[in-house]
Amino acid sequence: MSPFTRAGLAAALTLAVALTGAEAGKKRVMPSPPPDDSHVVVITGYLVEEVATETVRAAWTQYGPGGVLEARVVVSGKTCPDIAFDLKRQPMQLRASADSGFLTVCSAPVPAGTKQAALAFRKFDNKPPKIGADETAWKTWIEKEYGSPIPTHPSAPVANEEWRQRIEAKTKYDLVPLPVPVADPQRIIIIGDGGCRSKGDKHQDCLKPEAWPFAQVAAEAAKLKPDLVIHVGDYVSREQACPANVAVCQNQPFGDNWAAWDADTFTPLKPLLAVAPVVFTRGNHEDCNREGLGFLRLLGPQPFDPKAGCIPHLPPYSVPFARLNLVVSDNADAPETSVVEPSVPVYRTEIANLANEKAPTWWVLHRPVWGLISGPLGVPIGGNQTLIAAVPESGIPAPVELMLSGHIHTFEAINYTPEPRVPPQILSGRGGDLMDPTPANLHGAIFQGSSGVHVKDGISVPEFGFSLMTRTEDGWRIDVYDGHGRIQRVCQFHNSRVDCPVAKR
Ligand SMILES: [Fe+2]
Repeated sequence: MSPFTRAGLAAALTLAVALTGAEAGKKRVMPSPPPDDSHVVVITGYLVEEVATETVRAAWTQYGPGGVLEARVVVSGKTCPDIAFDLKRQPMQLRASADSGFLTVCSAPVPAGTKQAALAFRKFDNKPPKIGADETAWKTWIEKEYGSPIPTHPSAPVANEEWRQRIEAKTKYDLVPLPVPVADPQRIIIIGDGGCRSKGDKHQDCLKPEAWPFAQVAAEAAKLKPDLVIHVGDYVSREQACPANVAVCQNQPFGDNWAAWDADTFTPLKPLLAVAPVVFTRGNHEDCNREGLGFLRLLGPQPFDPKAGCIPHLPPYSVPFARLNLVVSDNADAPETSVVEPSVPVYRTEIANLANEKAPTWWVLHRPVWGLISGPLGVPIGGNQTLIAAVPESGIPAPVELMLSGHIHTFEAINYTPEPRVPPQILSGRGGDLMDPTPANLHGAIFQGSSGVHVKDGISVPEFGFSLMTRTEDGWRIDVYDGHGRIQRVCQFHNSRVDCPVAKR
């Protein structure tokens, strides 16, 4: 290789690094077989793997502690793509490397005030040479692709810089738009418990929308173009291997791995993830005996450390908006039917600390403290014994004006008696998992434990669907949607009450 050619290829490498923004371009690596579905650019002696759009398996933005919005992507290669904020490109960071069960997860904080966010992929009009192609092939391709030959005097810095700028100006990108921060959400989708149940003797037919409608539910929710989505938890319900004698679940993924997460959550949620940022709540399916590690890896609010193992309980965090504060709690390890004594002081402190939050606060927690199901003779029964044991005698601190939950697969709107202080509860855990029977009228409910809390009035709508909360002059309107995008019930949340007076059919 002549010095001249060497310098020209160095410039080409500079181009590759500049275009990909990848540190990977700086290190010399041996050529290796390219991944099946990612794009590989090779400049003699160097290899730059570039993520292609088709390697992106899921992309979304999610709120974390302090209201920091984070972009995350799951890719099938090893390399993270670039992300552009208001047309300025930067590389995403590796959040979790691929392993035997999961794919690569990348992340990047989205600056507050960002107006546009998109994954950015270099697009070629001409197919690049294959690995091992000679220098002539690369020079020819660069000329053809960019219409600009490598400088004849590459040692001249000015010429190189001009050439680089000319090339950059001609570079095209595929962009995959991502939702941006929202300062003051007006339209909020509440959705949850979407997985396709396959466990024990309960097996939904995950291939039939009438049996498992989560994709349809999420698509209808996306059509409403919300500002924000609150997922109230439980992401994977295909938890056990399909028995040989059950036809409907044969050959489907299950357990804590990407295939099951993808089938139960990311593929059906895709249209909704494309339109609005999400607040993800940890559900009991994401406890450390079930899909906890997958949750921490994919959706956890903290950085993921594979060596740390599964963290059974995460501290609550707030997501402050202009006129609304969310506090997101993890209660995956708080069972309903028994009091887990070591957890009680932890939850007691967390509940007491709600007093320090900014009003109005909505408390987002997967398992409701006082949610209801149908008991014997249709009497509404419920209550989470561990959480009830942790609630102070005075009730839930005043900044909390609403509780938002899932876990019970239905819609519920509940007002409680005045003492102790308990704000209304909206429960909307009916994305796709098998419905729980609940009485239409929740008056006369019986709770476990001894919190002294009673239902003043409340209703349930036990159908698949989601809820849309829309800000009004004096509160919020709550549209209770079914999976076909039809409004089943309209509620109002104002004056510290939820009321659902109008039944629409
Ligand atoms: Fe649950």
